[in-house]
Amino acid sequence: MESVGVQESSSQNPDVANKGDKETKFVYPDSFYPKFLNEIKDQDVVLFFKYYISGVEINESLLDSFTSFIINEENSPLVEQILHSNLLKHYPTSKSNRIQVLKRIIARLSFQSIFNDTLFEALSNAIITKNDGGYSYRSFIDMKKGGVIVVRKMDALVTFGTTGMTCWRASAVLAEYISRFCDFDDKNLLELGAGCGLSGIAAAKYHNVKNLYFTDRSEQVLEQLNENIRINFPEESRNITIQKLDWDHFNEEELLVSPDIILGADLLYNENSFPGLCSALKKLLTKHDSYAIFAHNIRNRCTLETFFDVELARHNLKPKRICQALLPKDEKGIDFF
Ligand SMILES: C[S@@+](CC[C@H](N)C(=O)[O-])C[C@H]1O[C@@H](n2cnc3c(N)ncnc32)[C@H](O)[C@@H]1O
Repeated sequence: MESVGVQESSSQNPDVANKGDKETKFVYPDSFYPKFLNEIKDQDVVLFFKYYISGVEINESLLDSFTSFIINEENSPLVEQILHSNLLKHYPTSKSNRIQVLKRIIARLSFQSIFNDTLFEALSNAIITKNDGGYSYRSFIDMKKGGVIVVRKMDALVTFGTTGMTCWRASAVLAEYISRFCDFDDKNLLELGAGCGLSGIAAAKYHNVKNLYFTDRSEQVLEQLNENIRINFPEESRNITIQKLDWDHFNEEELLVSPDIILGADLLYNENSFPGLCSALKKLLTKHDSYAIFAHNIRNRCTLETFFDVELARHNLKPKRICQALLPKDEKGIDFF
């Protein structure tokens, strides 16, 4: 295991980060919190916006709701703010995702012979957006806390031979769960296979954690994690460590503290990785009250059964309960053990 330093701002001014001699303007993602959302009564439109800025698939029903919202001219100022939000200007989502969503709305309106300039302008902006080396951003807003988390990720599902360069939906579900239901104050946390780090970032942002270790085995993923910590914690990152940790070659003595809580998002897709993962868990869960929270997609039930019924049992780790409170389509699970 090797440590990778977190780049810290040496400035006390939250708006400015010093990088060597060069002083660059730094603005927290929270500064772009879309306050206009509170004016929107239709919760489907709010959800549309949340999905739009996180660059995920948007279902037909949400597109219908937003299309109806556009048709009502009274909503024009809000439509303008949704489609040209500052959050998107600073942290553009994947170009192809935006183009696809906007074209689908334009097609719906064209069917009713309605042409909306704001939509066409948003589409033109998306088309001329430079493809930033395959990188784009995902923004996650917490309306209760008024917070914004931004992660940089790659658009491709696999890059540099790892799935960790993109941000998976399970990590967004876990982040939401962590923000709404957990109490991590004064706890030592460790995220396994952190990828873009969304779940751990939510833990550190919404709780007073004692220490947080982001871990992964891929060097490129660790570099990207460093960037994502920098985006979200310009100053307060001293209790955050990014550490190389490969489940298959893991020596627990290299960890500075034993974690109270382990986080894992979308790690249960490859049966071959389960023995290493479970043995790492067993070595890490040493305190009598330490536990792990995993969020995962249900892609193949047999794969999950192998993990829960065979591998966990072999390592004497017991799943305690399954919580599906947050799960819109029964497609993901959050398990505690
Ligand atoms: C599907 S990605 C999930 C990333 C992130 N948790 C998320 O949900 O967006 C799986 C992650 O596990 C990491 N991983 C896979 N095998 C690993 C191993 N043996 N040791 C450590 N990390 C591993 C990958 O590098 C990748 O970042």
